[in-house]
Amino acid sequence: MKFFVDTADVAAIAELNALGMVDGVTTNPSLILKSGRDILEVTKEICSIVAGPVSAEVVSLKADEMIAEGRKLADIAPNITVKVPLTWDGLKACKVLSDAGHMVNVTLCFSANQALIAAKAGATFISPFIGRLDDINMDGLDLIADIRTIYDNYNFKTQILAASIRTVNHVTECARIGADVMTAPPEVIRKLASHPLTDAGLAQFLKDWEKTGQKIL
Ligand code: G3P
Repeated sequence: MKFFVDTADVAAIAELNALGMVDGVTTNPSLILKSGRDILEVTKEICSIVAGPVSAEVVSLKADEMIAEGRKLADIAPNITVKVPLTWDGLKACKVLSDAGHMVNVTLCFSANQALIAAKAGATFISPFIGRLDDINMDGLDLIADIRTIYDNYNFKTQILAASIRTVNHVTECARIGADVMTAPPEVIRKLASHPLTDAGLAQFLKDWEKTGQKIL
């Protein structure tokens, strides 16, 4: 499973990228707001750090305007993925932009039917939002599993990009189901390394090591 980092925080991206943890980046208008930076400027900087796909989201509601915005975003760097919302106009923009050779990430997906039509419109990535379904007492992971089955039934090439990931358990389950990509905030990716038994075991080893009176360096 590929790891994308869901942030526009350049320092966090650079740190995770140096560890080989970043296959791509996803941003959205809320993450741009959080960064406090200009979208074109920060996206360009992210593209200079990360070799894989970097999603930048359009903000218009009409297909023609989304296409114009998508073209401008795609001019930033060759690894830009234009992110469009899962609306009828978003699907029109997806088709035009993907036919023109751009990578397109169709976002705000909450149903298997939405994922099916995004694939038919030529989406490179579909972004089902797991956490937001969990928030309304539905099971976001069931949606990932349904999309996996449907895409495999018909050999759709659209990659399932599991988004709105809030917990390390979401990451494990997405990997078990076979999501192609997961995008998570930096803090969730860091938490993947944590285990209380690792901490307890390390504390015991260090206590015993101190008793030996030895040094390695
Ligand atoms: O990738 C989409 C993500 O940014 C949304 O996450 O936690 O706001 O639902 P969240």
